[in-house]
Order: sequence, then C-alpha cells, then structure tokens
Amino acid sequence: MIDRLYGGGELSREEYAYLIRNRGDDSARYLFSLAAKARERYYGNKIYIRGLIEFTNYCKNDCFYCGIRRSNKNADRYRLEVSEILDCCKEGFELGFRTFVLQGGEDGYFNDERLCRIVREIKRLCPGCAVTLSVGEKSRGSYQAYFDAGADRYLLRHETADVRHYEKLHPKELSAENRLRCLHDLKEIGYQVGTGFMVGSPYQTADELAMDMMFIKAFQPHMVGIGPFVPHHDTPFGNEKAGTLELTLFMLGLVRLTLPAALLPATTALGTIDPEGREKGVLAGANVVMPNLSPPSVRKKYQLYDNKICTGCESAQSVDDLRKRMSRIGYDVVVDRGDAVSISKN
Ligand code: 5AD
Repeated sequence: MIDRLYGGGELSREEYAYLIRNRGDDSARYLFSLAAKARERYYGNKIYIRGLIEFTNYCKNDCFYCGIRRSNKNADRYRLEVSEILDCCKEGFELGFRTFVLQGGEDGYFNDERLCRIVREIKRLCPGCAVTLSVGEKSRGSYQAYFDAGADRYLLRHETADVRHYEKLHPKELSAENRLRCLHDLKEIGYQVGTGFMVGSPYQTADELAMDMMFIKAFQPHMVGIGPFVPHHDTPFGNEKAGTLELTLFMLGLVRLTLPAALLPATTALGTIDPEGREKGVLAGANVVMPNLSPPSVRKKYQLYDNKICTGCESAQSVDDLRKRMSRIGYDVVVDRGDAVSISKN
C-alpha cells in the first residue's frame, strides 16, 4: 500500500486505517524513505523557514484542548501593538525570513481594518515577502479583504475530519461545517491554504486519522500542519495523554506521500515533545520550520499547551543554529518565500 501511494495511487479510508493501525518500525522506515524521495522530487533538500508572530492570545473561542481558550482565566493575555508586529517583521527580514505568519486567537480588537493595515504595511516594508494569516474563522468578506490587502496564504487546521469527533473537541458554537466553509472560501478566493490536525487528540483512533487523510486528499491543501496533541493543564483535556512522536512522524510520512508537493512543517509541538522532534519531522517528510519571531517577553504567554518551547533553538534569532542542525542531516535552510510548487512563480 505504501508503494501504491508513492506511485501516485490512492488508498481507501480502510487502507489508511489499516496502515496506521498496523504500523511498526519497518513500515515506518520504509514510509520515511519514500517520503524523502517524494519531497526531493519537488523541493530537493531545501527547508523553508517562516517567521511566526503570535500577535495576540485573546480568543473568543473555547476549544477544549487549547490553553488560550476564553474560559482559561489563568492565561496572561497580551496583544502586540501594530508597530511591534512590524518591528518583528523587519527584524525577521534581516535574518533572512521571506514569509511571515501572523497567528493569533480570534481577537475582535484586530478587526478587518486593522488586519488589512498590518498586511499592507508588512508588504510595503518587506518587499518580496509572503504574508500568511492564521486568525481563525471569519466571513468570506473578511477573507477577501485580507487577500485584497496582500495576504498570500492562510492557515486554518480542520482539526479532525470526523464531525462527531469535532464535536467532542469543541463547544457547540463551533461546527465542522463552518470550518469547512471557511476552508473552501479561502481556496476559492485564491489563497495558498494550509489545513491540518492534531495527532493523538482525545477520542481519536486510526479511523479518525484515516478520515483526515481522505479529507486532505480530496481538499488538496497547499500546506498541512500536523503536530501531536499536548495537554494544557488549565483546559478540560488537562489530564489526557499527549500524542506520540512516533505516530506523528508516521502521519507526516503518510501526508507527504499523499500530497507529495505539499509544504509540511515540522511543528513546534513536535519540537516540544522531543528535543530533536524537528529534525525527525524533516526526516519523515516535513520541509518547513517555523521559528518564533514574537518578542521574547510575550512568548511564554502564547501557551496553547504545556511546556511549549519558546526560548531555545526554535526562536528566529537562532536561525544559524537551525541551519546547522538541518545541514547535519543533509538539508539546506534557504532564504526564499517557499511557495507551493504547483503555483510557484519561478
Ligand atoms: N496541543 C497541540 N496542538 C494544539 N493546538 C491548540 N491546542 C493544542 C494542544 N493542546 C493547535 C490546534 C490549532 C493550532 C494553532 O494549534 O491544532 O489549530
């Protein structure tokens, strides 16, 4: 089945579930070797970096897994000034970043007008760079406004493709249906769209993961963010088990073979559960790393889950260190926007 995927064939949901359920060291090793070849075909040994700016941890939502959910009264809330966000980008631009990812909770303070102004200013100050937004569920009109202001990409994980599972992870106000509506709007507007899911979230089995794979195959996102679920002590899932490194890597490999031209980050959550999580992620099929460009004073406050790394080599200022770590395993961190190949301008 792994060979069939590599050859461009399709798997059924049952086949994905079978592969996931019966995985082992040997199948994982084989999967990763083909994932590396598939990635090489499209991206060589290049690793793209994105400067991540976590600009607000205010959020009107109450997702059961997330540390910045509205009900978490212990979260120390902050929002960056527009000028601070722009300073982060200017600093990042000098460090070699050509993509900035603005991620935040769903914070009404950052209305369309403010967000559009930020996007326009970044594009003006950092010529040739790409702007990625990750600010949650909005109306189609809002998405269009950000796009018209110059935003290139949008990240919105679907979290789980199984509606009943979605309901177990979210309060009633949030629906899988609206999440999908958002993803389709984003794609139609013309964004490069990233979706994704947590691995090992509560109630998830191989069947849900297989549905995630089927969804990804059908939706054809340009980017797929997957990382292990990691509990946050001040959430309803505080006592749940974390997702494992091993299963996350296996899922990364499967995504790479399913969408060989996708941009796949080795996520912060992966780096959090293992000191070499990001390197291992790359060896399993990832080709993007997103170091943190937020001002150091707020990094600890963007705690989506416990022990999120935020001072070591995941920080943007340590990009040289990242470069060395990647070159040790045979990869080159490049200064490039890193567009998805299918729509790359070169
Ligand atoms: N563990 C891992 N990932 C999480 N996210 C939110 N909370 C957690 C958690 N406890 C992820 C979600 C969200 C992204 C920004 O972070 O998938 O889409």
